[in-house]
Amino acid sequence: MKKILILYYSRTGNTEKMANTIAQGAQSSNVEVQVTYHVDAENLVGYDAIIIGAPTYHHDMPVDFKNLFEDAAVQGISLKNKIGAAFGSYGWSDEAPKLILEIMKNKFEMQVVEAPLLAKYEPDQSLLNACRAFGKRISESLKNRT
Ligand SMILES: Cc1cc2nc3c(=O)[nH]c(=O)nc-3n(C[C@H](O)[C@H](O)[C@H](O)COP(=O)(O)O)c2cc1C
Repeated sequence: MKKILILYYSRTGNTEKMANTIAQGAQSSNVEVQVTYHVDAENLVGYDAIIIGAPTYHHDMPVDFKNLFEDAAVQGISLKNKIGAAFGSYGWSDEAPKLILEIMKNKFEMQVVEAPLLAKYEPDQSLLNACRAFGKRISESLKNRT
């Protein structure tokens, strides 16, 4: 069974709504989806796809994710060739998901399969539909992998 991790941070619930809707889209008979706001670096190896939800605060990603990437790097945890994706709510700039994708690609050699999925403040219905489709595409891309 393939495993997808949806890891998110959200202070006012906007990115959380996106996370839960992406999870709905990703649900499938032979894919296990876990949604959480915390994971230890050593547990990342157990997932085939890692999707991170990061709102932009102060033009940056949440410090929890910096710490997670730092821990994974220090411990030499290999995420090579795992699928990576990022999303998040923002207000006027939208750096966080882009920064995360750069780290996934350049430091951890993950396969970034989607552009960052962004919602300005609270996701509306069409954005939630895009979240569902985003989750579904990632889930289906996993099924086609050996
Ligand atoms: C103190 C503070 C700083 C913020 N800084 C930024 C920022 O630098 N860039 C941006 O696009 N949005 C910024 N925002 C807006 C948040 O990204 C936006 O409210 C988002 O919807 C929060 O997502 P969440 O509900 O998942 O926490 C900031 C909001 C607050 C309260």
